[in-house]
Amino acid sequence: MKKKARPDLSAACAGIKSPNPFWLASSPPSNSAAQVMRAFEYGWGGVVWKTLGQDPPVVNVTSRYGACDFGGRKVAGFNNIELISDRPLAVNLKEILAVKKRFPDRAVVASLMVPCERKAWHDIVKKVLDAGCDGIELNFGCPHGMTERGMGAAVGQVPQYVKMVTEFVKEKSSVPVLVKLTPNVADIRPPARAAKAGGADGVSLINTINSLMGVDVETLTPKFAVAGKAAHGGYCGPAVKPIALHMVAAIANDPQTRSLPISGIGGISNWSDAVEFMLLGASNVQLCTAVMHHGFRIIEDLNAGLEGWMRRKGFMTLGRFVGRSAPDIVEWKDLDLRHKTVASIDKNKCIGCDVCYAACNDAAHQCIAIDRKGGNRKPHVIESDCVGCNLCSLVCPVDNCIAMKEVPGKEH
Ligand SMILES: Cc1cc2nc3c(=O)[nH]c(=O)nc-3n(C[C@H](O)[C@H](O)[C@H](O)COP(=O)(O)O)c2cc1C
Repeated sequence: MKKKARPDLSAACAGIKSPNPFWLASSPPSNSAAQVMRAFEYGWGGVVWKTLGQDPPVVNVTSRYGACDFGGRKVAGFNNIELISDRPLAVNLKEILAVKKRFPDRAVVASLMVPCERKAWHDIVKKVLDAGCDGIELNFGCPHGMTERGMGAAVGQVPQYVKMVTEFVKEKSSVPVLVKLTPNVADIRPPARAAKAGGADGVSLINTINSLMGVDVETLTPKFAVAGKAAHGGYCGPAVKPIALHMVAAIANDPQTRSLPISGIGGISNWSDAVEFMLLGASNVQLCTAVMHHGFRIIEDLNAGLEGWMRRKGFMTLGRFVGRSAPDIVEWKDLDLRHKTVASIDKNKCIGCDVCYAACNDAAHQCIAIDRKGGNRKPHVIESDCVGCNLCSLVCPVDNCIAMKEVPGKEH
């Protein structure tokens, strides 16, 4: 019997090739050759090395990480105040060379951050090119610590600086350059346009979001403090995915940056999260928090899940679906005002918990009623009043109990 062809998972982002679209993001999992080699043995397609800077290396604080658990789920959001690599540059360069030698088919990208001076950038670019990297990522996104030194997000928030530093790097780089953007801006499009104007081969996003993890109400001190004091950090993990998706789609749909390759980052936990980024325009994806939570082994599920989905959908290459859903993200004014849905409650699945009733009655449009006669507690929808807002279906604790059904709309 003839064997069915397998979908091809190989990816190319801004010309940087990898056997699958999954890269380790620049972060603790990509801090050393020992880690990266182990990740590659598991099957990761590429790595963006933990950001390299000038010597002497930075000094980090203890502690550095915080997490937000939600509803019994550990690490729904993750916060860090870690700086760039705190290992000597020469050690990192030697290790990059060794990794590339042992794994020539994987993408090894050097993430860089030095002061905004042409010579400083030229010097470090030469060093990472000598180390054999396949690409360079400019860290214009780190929102804490390095920003106080005029680097990271302090660059990413000013389009002129983004363009200027990208130009410095492009003057010397013989490999593709990705500009990693900060989400800590009002509109992600101007820095993306500036990256393109500076000659970037692509953008990667998002870096982390300004955040503070909380205050202990017993001791009145900040949570995850350093000797009783806390500085704002960078937020990431599953909680940030919708913010990242919005920014990826904004760049993919912007006529000025539509052709710019995107490496998607932010809250990716599994293969379907990754597919969502790719459907909105990302050529590949990078992961950090999921690896920090579950280890390198998740690559097996990422690859198998992606391959299974592609097979099911009949996509033999990534190019068949990258960006497919981006045109469906439009401005509010372009949404169809005639479209109408109403809630529909499956009486057989309803457990009579009243959650939908309370939500609709107190916080939406008072269109769920409960006829309490004869001990009945089951709600029903007053369809003529229902505005189709989705709230009842979102709060209902039973899967598929409340569906939104389409009904004929009216002209406005
Ligand atoms: C502890 C920690 C350290 C990080 N260090 C870097 C870094 O050195 N350079 C960089 O560009 N991004 C750094 N990041 C940001 C990640 O690369 C990534 O952009 C962000 O975490 C969002 O992805 P995620 O939701 O998969 O974690 C760091 C993130 C964390 C949590």
